[in-house]
Amino acid sequence: MKTAIEGSDRFREILDRLGRMSIDDYYNPYRMFEWPEELPSDQLWMSKELISLHGTPAFDELDREQLLRLARWESVNFYSLNVHGIRELLIEVVNRVHMPGFEAPSEFFHHFIGEENEHMWFFAEFCRRYGKKIYPFPRVKTTVPGDEATENFLVFARILLFEEIVDYYNAYMADDATLPETVRQVNRIHHRDESRHIAFGRELVSLLYAELKRTKNEEELAGVERYLKEYIQFCLHSFYSLNAYEDAGLEDPLAVRAAVMRDPNRRAFERRMVRKPVSFMVKSGIFKDAELLAPAAV
Ligand SMILES: [Fe+2]
Ligand SMILES: [Fe+2]
Repeated sequence: MKTAIEGSDRFREILDRLGRMSIDDYYNPYRMFEWPEELPSDQLWMSKELISLHGTPAFDELDREQLLRLARWESVNFYSLNVHGIRELLIEVVNRVHMPGFEAPSEFFHHFIGEENEHMWFFAEFCRRYGKKIYPFPRVKTTVPGDEATENFLVFARILLFEEIVDYYNAYMADDATLPETVRQVNRIHHRDESRHIAFGRELVSLLYAELKRTKNEEELAGVERYLKEYIQFCLHSFYSLNAYEDAGLEDPLAVRAAVMRDPNRRAFERRMVRKPVSFMVKSGIFKDAELLAPAAV
C-alpha cells in the first residue's frame, strides 16, 4: 500500500513548482546584503508593536532611550532565536534527506537545507555585527515520545510552527518603514524564502498526519496535539528574553518578565501572532480547537 506521500499527485506538483521557484529565486546571500558599519542608534531596530513589553504598563514607563535600547537587544534576541531554531531544524531535515519514505521531497530538502544554511548565516552575521554576540538558547525538547511515524510528523509540524511564528515578525518588519533598511532587508528576504518553506511544510505535515491517523488511537493523537501546543508556548516564551532585558538596562528584569508574561494584553498579541498556523492545525484536524495552553502549563 502506498503511503500518503507516495500517493499524492498534488504533493508532487507542489514540489515541482516550489523547487523551480527555489532555483529561479536563487541569490548569493554573501553578496546580497549591504552591512553598514553601524545601524542608526536613534532609530528602533524592531517594530514598536513587536517589542515584548508592548501593550503593558512596563512599556508606557520606558523613556525614548530605554525603548531604543530594548528594541536593539530584542532584535538581537530575535535573530539569535532564528540562528538556534534553524540549526535545530536543519539537523532534523539533514537526517531525513535520504531516509526511506521521503524520496518525493528529497530534492526539495536539498533546496531547503541550502537556503536555511544561508539564513542561519545572515542572522548570525546581524547579531555579530550589531550586537557583538549571539544569545544562547535552551535546546528545544527534541526527544519526541513515540515511534518513527510520530517522530517524523512532530519534527515537521514543529518546523512549520517555528517558521510561521518567525514569519509573522519577518512580514511585519519588512513592511515597517520606520526601521533601518538593513533590518527591513533581512526580514524581507527571509520572508520571501519562507513563503516556499511554509507552503511545502503545510502539505508535508498534512500528509504525515493522514498517515498517523491510520495507525494511532484518540489518546495518542491527543498527546500529539498537547505536545505541539506546548511547543507553541515554548516559542512564545522565547520572545520574553531576560538577556535582552538585562542588556537594555531594565531595572529588575526578572520582575518585568514575570509581569509582562502575566499581562492579558500579551495573550491577545500572542493569539494574533499564531492565528494562521493554529487555524491551519485546526483545519487539518491536528488540533481539536484553537485554544492555546496557559503560559503556566509549560
Ligand atoms: Fe529560514
Ligand atoms: Fe525555512
